[in-house]
Amino acid sequence: MTQPLLFTPIALRDVTLKNRVVIAPMAMYSAVDGIAQDFHFAHWGRFVLGGAGLVFIEATAVTDQGRITNGDLGLWSSAHMPPLKRFAAFAKSQGVVPAIQLAHAGRKGSMQRPWFGNGPLTADDLARGEKTWEIVAPTTEPMAEGYIVPRALSVSDLATLKTQWVDAAKRAIDCGFEVLEIHNAHGYLVHEFLSPLSNTRNDGYGGDFAGRTRFPLELAEALRAVWPKDKPVFLRVSAVDGVDGGWSMDDTVAYAKELKARGIDVIDCSSGGLFGSATAARIKRTWGFQVPYAERVRREAGIKSMAVGLIVDPAYAEEVLQKGQADLIAIAREALVNPSWPQMAEIALGRTASDAMDDWPVQYGWWLKHRERSIAQIRADEAAGNA
Ligand SMILES: Cc1cc2nc3c(=O)[nH]c(=O)nc-3n(C[C@H](O)[C@H](O)[C@H](O)COP(=O)(O)O)c2cc1C
Repeated sequence: MTQPLLFTPIALRDVTLKNRVVIAPMAMYSAVDGIAQDFHFAHWGRFVLGGAGLVFIEATAVTDQGRITNGDLGLWSSAHMPPLKRFAAFAKSQGVVPAIQLAHAGRKGSMQRPWFGNGPLTADDLARGEKTWEIVAPTTEPMAEGYIVPRALSVSDLATLKTQWVDAAKRAIDCGFEVLEIHNAHGYLVHEFLSPLSNTRNDGYGGDFAGRTRFPLELAEALRAVWPKDKPVFLRVSAVDGVDGGWSMDDTVAYAKELKARGIDVIDCSSGGLFGSATAARIKRTWGFQVPYAERVRREAGIKSMAVGLIVDPAYAEEVLQKGQADLIAIAREALVNPSWPQMAEIALGRTASDAMDDWPVQYGWWLKHRERSIAQIRADEAAGNA
């Protein structure tokens, strides 16, 4: 049997992933003052034990102002570091690459946690103890009617903001993360600069493609300069806005070329979110619906890409890699259902359970190999009519 690509290691700079399955960032909106709680550690632990090559920490705000909700994780001070350090060390102890997505919500800040409505904070939310705060964006245009009116960022604010991102990245390095992802998608601050629908500034940070990409590219450059040279930086885009007159796939390809020139290693291809919740479904959902974005970026910009979005069938994930449509496969919700998806996918793609289980955490694998033998025995007895 030839080894599936999905389970062939891949080197990104000097960081080697044991396989090409990535757990995508998933915000749990359950931090307290930006600090991760026991819940987070249990949540991350499921993925670390589940066999993925790389596990992302959710969108982590670089400033308190840059949180989407009161429950967002943050890294704007050293007080946020201990639980993140613990995660990074634990992931490494299990041969898993620890990764963090840094983020700023922009005009989608100070909102309700998803399960309270995903809208602007209401009197009920404030009564529950939620706090509201001033939000910032490229312009004073709110995301939609009824949302907080943001303060438009001045040129000197942009310089401050870059420093805040860089400071958060330095803390992430000190926590032991090996991969940084810049959250440049889903209608949050960096995406707001890119899209002509949210960036109508008339200074050097708006206007044409060069103006709208200027702050995002300056930010990417600043973060690449501080992130260790031997470690990769990913950037997540919303490859298309899915709205007339919005950011397009051609824009994404041109932008990816600029990012590649600045040393970004992987483009993580998501979509949507400029209006409404994170990735509100303006783009029709089908299996692997965002794979064509990862494919075009990879082919036309000549940069590594990661595919994400409704990839649940191991054979399909393998096909995406075999066809050269992406270099990495990210899964999110499927991993909430089954954190052992990567381990089970390897078996589904042909490795025997007893071999595969040798690579599982020994605390699980040892028992499960014995169970496999018992199951095989029961099946043989059943087949022979001896059950
Ligand atoms: C609970 C949850 C939280 C999410 N939080 C983030 C996030 O913090 N950052 C991000 O870029 N995407 C986030 N996403 C989007 C996922 O990373 C992923 O792109 C999306 O769910 C599609 O992949 P899937 O079909 O495998 O779930 C989140 C998704 C879910 C379900």
